[in-house]
Amino acid sequence: MRNPDWMQSIQKKMVCMHEKLGESVPWYSTEGCYKEAAEDFWVSGFWPGMLWIMYDMTGKDFYKDAAWQWDGRLEGCFVRESNMHHDVGFQFLPTAVIKYKLTGDREAKRRGLFAANFLAGRFNPAGGFLRAWNQNKTGWSIIDSTMNLSLLFWAAEESGDARFFHTAKIHADTVLKYFIRPDGSVNHIVVFDPVSGEMQKSLGGQGYDSNSSWSRGQAWAIYGMANVCRYTGERRFLDAAKRVAHYFLANLEACGLPCWDFRVPNREQEPLDSSAAAIAACGLLEIAEMTSDDDGFYRKAAVRMINCLTEQCSVLDDPEYQGLLLHGTGNKPAEEQVDVPLIYGDYFYLEALARLDGWRNKIF
Ligand code: GLY
Repeated sequence: MRNPDWMQSIQKKMVCMHEKLGESVPWYSTEGCYKEAAEDFWVSGFWPGMLWIMYDMTGKDFYKDAAWQWDGRLEGCFVRESNMHHDVGFQFLPTAVIKYKLTGDREAKRRGLFAANFLAGRFNPAGGFLRAWNQNKTGWSIIDSTMNLSLLFWAAEESGDARFFHTAKIHADTVLKYFIRPDGSVNHIVVFDPVSGEMQKSLGGQGYDSNSSWSRGQAWAIYGMANVCRYTGERRFLDAAKRVAHYFLANLEACGLPCWDFRVPNREQEPLDSSAAAIAACGLLEIAEMTSDDDGFYRKAAVRMINCLTEQCSVLDDPEYQGLLLHGTGNKPAEEQVDVPLIYGDYFYLEALARLDGWRNKIF
């Protein structure tokens, strides 16, 4: 065990959470209890991802045993009626792919590659984008997908099939062209004509409106673009990650954390989103790993953000309380999951703490 301060608290908490959660998929927490989501919902990989990080850091079989069955469960969603879509990256990278990396399990590898094929099948060649959601949203693409690209890059390496690589890189170039604005702010949803591939409009989605700047979307762009540079070696993606990072850092509240949308009116009266901070911190650490000439700027910014989260949002001293981070905001326009712990905030906070403590494996 490396850093007793946070590791011991989190270990106690995760043991309690495992006992209480049982088989359920944690999503957001109210009054210290996690609400359950459906297995096909985009958040279903985060709890197992936390278990795999803890297994990798501690070597304790408890975490491995608790995480083991998740990729098989999620695979079941493909063979029954369900709403699986582009977020298979969020679901299979922290389950099947990390399980394969840590244990060599061949079934986990097969499931990861299956999910990558499913994701690649959502590519629209006319517009050069991965389709996000289902129903009639055939031309919709969203910034969150940037994080799912790592599943395709991993599949390209694992299978030797360059189609996965090209698909991910073409989508990433579409993100550069249509999602990331010159000032470093980001569109949440871009709608393309699915036949011609022409961009039609951008939508506010989980942000305040179409010209605003949803902070979690910014965070997905920082971390996602940094990952694309890691896989492709192409500098333009790192430059984009930095541009969004600078915008993000310049727009933090006085407390050092982000509001849920950087351009919402009367921002000082609006809720924070701790999950955006945790994701951005991981992205900043990823940028820092690839950047040798910036005097530690990105790492220092990440450490500051994590310290702010620990001081203002973390619940590390109560093992019975489900959730590591208070003050997450899931969907403010819908008034859903406002000012609560979110499982993805917890996951990325744990990932950031682990990375600062020397954890070198990658999930995303
Ligand atoms: N991927 C959905 C969200 O960030 O809320």
